[in-house]
Amino acid sequence: MKDNSLTVNQRVEPLTAAVNEKNHLTLGGIDVVELAAEFGTPLWIICEDTIRAAAQAIWEGLKDYPNATPSYAGKAFLCLAMAALVKDLNFGIDVVSEGELVTALQAGFSPEKIFLHGNNKSLEELTMAISNAGVKIVVDSLSELEDIIDLAQRYKRRVPVMLRIIPGIDLDTHDHIKTGHSTSKFGIPLDELERTVEMALEHTEHINLLGLHAHIGSQGMDLPPYLQVVELMGDLYKSYKDKFGYEMPHLDLGGGLGIAYIAEDRPIALNTWARTLSDEVKRVFPARGLKLPELSLEPGRSIIGTAGVTLYQVGRTKELAGGVNYLSIDGGMADNPRPIMYQAKYTAVVANRMANEQNSGDKVWSIVGRYCESGDIIVEEVKLNAKRGDLIAIFATGAYNYSMSSNYNRTARPACVLVKNGKAEVILARETCTDLLRQDRMPSWLA
Ligand code: LLP
Repeated sequence: MKDNSLTVNQRVEPLTAAVNEKNHLTLGGIDVVELAAEFGTPLWIICEDTIRAAAQAIWEGLKDYPNATPSYAGKAFLCLAMAALVKDLNFGIDVVSEGELVTALQAGFSPEKIFLHGNNKSLEELTMAISNAGVKIVVDSLSELEDIIDLAQRYKRRVPVMLRIIPGIDLDTHDHIKTGHSTSKFGIPLDELERTVEMALEHTEHINLLGLHAHIGSQGMDLPPYLQVVELMGDLYKSYKDKFGYEMPHLDLGGGLGIAYIAEDRPIALNTWARTLSDEVKRVFPARGLKLPELSLEPGRSIIGTAGVTLYQVGRTKELAGGVNYLSIDGGMADNPRPIMYQAKYTAVVANRMANEQNSGDKVWSIVGRYCESGDIIVEEVKLNAKRGDLIAIFATGAYNYSMSSNYNRTARPACVLVKNGKAEVILARETCTDLLRQDRMPSWLA
């Protein structure tokens, strides 16, 4: 099932995916049928080797850039184990909430390696970042900068900041995950940017202006929009150097490189993406008489997406008149909301009967979730030879599945295991009904 000519984000399956003599899917050297027996289903399985390979591909692409500092966008998937792994890979980390910030700190990230993002950070979140001296704040608006200046004065700190811009560059992706277009809710519009830079530079006692940041969207497949961002950044850095005599030392080009969810998807390879962007900075900045800035990229999906596989068990099946056939699985939109939110496509296999069975069935199934929503369809119309009790594996579920999961219908979230070299350990325990009831309180008049 492997095509080794593809780099990690271009493959649908994790690098360690294989089929054993029992015709079972194995991941990290472990039979997933055994994982299901030990940990239950639905189960999120994460392949550590695939994450390491993705991070390695980024480092490989950046190797000729003198001062590159990639970081991982935690919103794609974050828990203590993931944060520890990312730290081990020598990446920094992007966080967007108190919860993500606490997770990164608790996993041992030094504050200097943490970037706090968000279009509406609370004063508590800003204060937390400022009191963990060194956390870089990616400022989303002029008014946020004013708040940071106030807080920095109050806590007698000098806060390192980047300014997120709205570059006005459109990524060809689902509308909900575009962020670079001129009407984006994220970032500072270009016509307010100079004033914001000026304000930062008027407060150098409290603000250390590191540079600009742009993230144009997610699941991008091609290079040109990213190259446009670099060009724009070169122009902006040059104009502020000319205007204020200040050369910003750091540049962050965001994340957003896509992965393959189905065989037809062919995103640019991770290493090519990192190399092309960094080469473009090496071309654009010196051409304007600028020094090479410290360069950050912040991929999320392309680091964790391909590493994840979700394992479900088939329950009821239903064959309706007109050739509509449903395979109901024991999970669905609560553990993977991406199909219902973005019409995302996924690849399914019968994990307990791999060889010769794929696409060989005569029936076309829709793999539907167990949730009370007609749109809860994980894969639409796939030919599979499947029946009740089979295990269905859905590939490329590492990113934005756990992190966007819910307890819809008061269901407990699945467990998540990390697999590596024949070992599997839980990194997120399966929720229980006790967890679901933990926050419930009964008002006195109903007790
Ligand atoms: N940097 C910033 C500022 C971001 O907002 C994001 C993603 C990233 C980096 C990482 O982007 P990535 O490399 O993962 O594409 N829930 C959606 C994706 C939302 C992305 C939000 N921002 C999905 O499931 O497709």
